[in-house]
Parts: sequence; C-alpha cells; structure tokens
Amino acid sequence: MHLSFLHQYLSEAQVARQRIVQAVNATDNTLLGKDVAPTIEVEVSNFGLRIYTTRDAGADKRYLRVTNFVMPNLSAFGGSTVGDGYAVHWHVPIDDHSHWKYIFAFSRDKELDEFLRTRSRVELTADYRLGRNAANRYQQDRASIKTQTFTGMGTNFQVHDAFATESQGRVQNRTAENPVSSDKAIIAARKLILNAIKDVREGREPQHVIRDPQANRFANLVVLSDVIPKSTDWKEYTRSRELK
Ligand SMILES: [Fe+2]
Repeated sequence: MHLSFLHQYLSEAQVARQRIVQAVNATDNTLLGKDVAPTIEVEVSNFGLRIYTTRDAGADKRYLRVTNFVMPNLSAFGGSTVGDGYAVHWHVPIDDHSHWKYIFAFSRDKELDEFLRTRSRVELTADYRLGRNAANRYQQDRASIKTQTFTGMGTNFQVHDAFATESQGRVQNRTAENPVSSDKAIIAARKLILNAIKDVREGREPQHVIRDPQANRFANLVVLSDVIPKSTDWKEYTRSRELK
C-alpha cells in the first residue's frame, strides 16, 4: 500500500534517474503500480524482521522485495542503490512525541553521486525541516492528484512519509485500529517492541540487543528488489543472497 499508493508516481516522466529492474526492463515504480495487492510474509531474525513482499510481474515472473525492520527503530530497504547497496532510515526519538529521521544510503560498487546524495534533502530548510509541512498542508496541489501523485504533495518521498506519519496525530491509538493483511509487518514489529518493553520492565535484557562484538555482524540482512521466475522459491533465493 505504502509504495503502490503513497509514493507512486503516476507519470514516470516526473522523476529523474529511475532504477531499471533488468529482468523486465521496467522501473520499480511501474512494478509497484501494476500489482497493488502484494503478498507479504514476515520472518523474525536475529536483528528484527525480514519482510518479503511479492507482486505479480507478468505471466511467469514475480517481483520480490525484501525489506527489514531492525530493532529498535531502523528500517533497511531498497532505494536507488539496491543491488549493490541499500538505504536505511533511522528514527531517533527527541522526546515522547517527535523524532529526527536520519537517512543513510550506500553503494558497494561506486561513490554516490550528487543526485543520490541530495535527493532526500530537496525541499528541506536550512535547519533540516520540511518546507512542505502540516502548517501549509504540505503545499498540496489537488489538481496534480490526477496526473502526478495520489498525495498531490510533490515527488519527494520524505514529504509523503511526514504527511502519513504526522496526520495520525501526536499519539496514535493503536487499540482502535483495524489492521489488515497488508499490515502484517507492522503487527509483527509492534510485537517485538512490546516484548522488548516487557523484558526491560521485568529486568531482562531484551531480544535483539547485541553486546558481543563477535555477534555484531548481520550477514543475513539482505535487501532485494528483483524480478525472479515464478518457479523460484523466493525464500531460498533470498537466503542465497546472504553474505558469507
Ligand atoms: Fe515511505
């Protein structure tokens, strides 16, 4: 839902430097827009959660994305550098109601160029706040909803995310929600966090806290955005991409 609607570009001409998924010669944006009802599976791992999202990508093909929730407050997922790197978002609390979002992107193959280094900083003020914000309704242009994005809030993913997060209010009452199958990863992440809170309250070390430097290496943290044959076992495929 998040990628197929919130971040979907209705016209790819709007966005420079789209990554091309080689197997189908199509952009991630196109693949995400074609199948808006993905299948989601979640696995608990030593760092948190591995999330498999699969979409239809033609007669005998499947679009596989593997993203990760890293305890307690990070996510690792495919951006423009997926294939030889990936992106990480780190949500660091400032107080009980707000946080700074730190964005990392890296490539194993080559230095990040100007475009990749600055793309998330467009529309930021000098003190790293969004120019488009709740006070100005994220400068929503309702006419652009028909031709550019479903949000009408421009093409910067950071603005879409801020809108989706902030518009829920300072405290979201999760007990009044009705989660559905596309929320599987959210539900699993909350369980990990609630378990960790319980552990700390009861004087135990929570799961996923690594103290041993030897164990502080996550070769199994894999990020993928690939089109694979339908006959391929996507979990096997993902395991085969773990670092040794
Ligand atoms: Fe997002």
